[in-house]
Amino acid sequence: MNITLRVWRQAGPDVEGHMETIEVPDVSEHMSFLEMIDVVNDRLTLEGKEPIAIDSDCREGICGTCGVMINRQAHGPVRATVCQLHMRSFTDGETIDVEPWRADAFPVVKDLVVDRSAFDRIIAAGGYISAPTGSAPEAHSTPVKKADADHAFDAATCIACGACVAACPNGSAMLFTAAKVTHLGLLPQGQPERGSRVLNMINQHDEEGFGGCTNIGECTAVCPKGIPFDTISQLNRDMLGALLRGE
Ligand code: SF4
Ligand code: FES
Repeated sequence: MNITLRVWRQAGPDVEGHMETIEVPDVSEHMSFLEMIDVVNDRLTLEGKEPIAIDSDCREGICGTCGVMINRQAHGPVRATVCQLHMRSFTDGETIDVEPWRADAFPVVKDLVVDRSAFDRIIAAGGYISAPTGSAPEAHSTPVKKADADHAFDAATCIACGACVAACPNGSAMLFTAAKVTHLGLLPQGQPERGSRVLNMINQHDEEGFGGCTNIGECTAVCPKGIPFDTISQLNRDMLGALLRGE
């Protein structure tokens, strides 16, 4: 395949960026999107040019670092992470636009790399259990209802990629925050801090400059882990309960 990349280039956080057109010949349809970028970067380096900055780590859909906008869709045309997207999802001769996440709370560091440390601060505000739990207990010693266990597990699959924020017209991180609140709040160990957790995490979410949720649903449509929209309902129930209890 021969493709044309139109990729966002921005030398640093405080300089203006622009789209740069790069012709990419001889692309194998079996390459992942990141492998295609690797080949482009090898060529740019050999030509003495600056390679495209893009984050990646696990390259198997776990770490959540590789997210970019591809043709104005978070993570591109397949509901998976960019490292799991293959070039067979595109056609010979196609022009592909690649841009960083666009959100006030995710400032661009360089090219396609954004600073997602706002997520870390939301987690630090309450996304943990501080009860002394000792060594690993026997698996069946703390009964958890099957429905709660399944729901908590589904929520725990969030990889903090940020696609939900990038896709949301409000730049809201409510699906991410709700996934963490739901994951911990449905398990017995998460009960003592359930109220303070949700309030602190939402306060931090707002302080970071993420927008509010207005039930648009773009977040869940692009989420590579399929975090369901009803986790936001769970967050709202937990928040209301904490406020009514005067926490
Ligand atoms: S909720 Fe989904 S889209 Fe949002 S950060 Fe988690 S995995 Fe990514
Ligand atoms: S590189 Fe880890 S999820 Fe893509």
